[in-house]
Amino acid sequence: MQRFKQRAETDGCRFIEPVLPETGVVVDVGCGNGALASWVANSNESVNVFALDKELNQLSLTQVLQTNLFYIESDAYALSLTDNSVDLIYLHAVCMYLVPLSTVLEECNRVLKIGGQIALRNGLSVVNNMELFVNGELLSKVLNHSLRKNSDNPNIAFTIPDILKSMHFYEISTNTSIESSRSIEEIQQVANSTIELLDGKIGNDALQENIITANELEELKMGIKEWSMDNKAYNKAVWIEHIYIKVKKYDRNSKLACKI
Ligand SMILES: C[S@@+](CC[C@H](N)C(=O)[O-])C[C@H]1O[C@@H](n2cnc3c(N)ncnc32)[C@H](O)[C@@H]1O
Repeated sequence: MQRFKQRAETDGCRFIEPVLPETGVVVDVGCGNGALASWVANSNESVNVFALDKELNQLSLTQVLQTNLFYIESDAYALSLTDNSVDLIYLHAVCMYLVPLSTVLEECNRVLKIGGQIALRNGLSVVNNMELFVNGELLSKVLNHSLRKNSDNPNIAFTIPDILKSMHFYEISTNTSIESSRSIEEIQQVANSTIELLDGKIGNDALQENIITANELEELKMGIKEWSMDNKAYNKAVWIEHIYIKVKKYDRNSKLACKI
């Protein structure tokens, strides 16, 4: 929880700041303890912020009363908001819990005004970061293949641009930032869980569909094991990537790009 709180207060603010409207309605879906929504409300008193979560019991008791911040208990799959009423809707560290994500994005689409924006920020599993150290190309080929096939995969961030494109959002942009961590336990945990994935359905699918040969799969697993035992890895090896996606919506009926 402390980790999420810290992210919401630092990285979360940096993520949302460039897309904050000057006035209007901003919605935080899955607001958690409310730290980011509170920062948004505080940073611009001309916007009204609606902070939604399916459970509002995580709100910080020390929260200061803000006249432009409203908490609503609401499920992301059925937002308690009217159509075409929102200027910016964002989901920070929430998408991995939402399956199918496309239903939630349709809901976001429904409540957004024409010209409104959606901003999503999500962590990618640390698994992907090993690509930098182990036979990266092969590992990413296997994982991406599986991620694209299984829409309920926790690494949903890979599929977000595709879902949005299919919903006729435009100006989709993604950025990645990298964060390092230095715990030996974390590295070993990541290595073991990746080997488990390769031993299980993900590895099997990749073999069956000729994404990888049996020899390559064995080499990959060996590489991951060696990487996790390498002392030098501990100082720099676990990276957590974040993907940012900002989207502007256009009028599907008129097909005219609207003024943002
Ligand atoms: C990791 S926390 C992130 C909280 C906050 N956005 C932040 O960045 O600190 C994920 C939040 O998503 C909420 N959540 C999960 N599924 C949800 C759903 N179906 N509808 C609404 N909120 C949901 C959880 O209750 C939790 O507060």
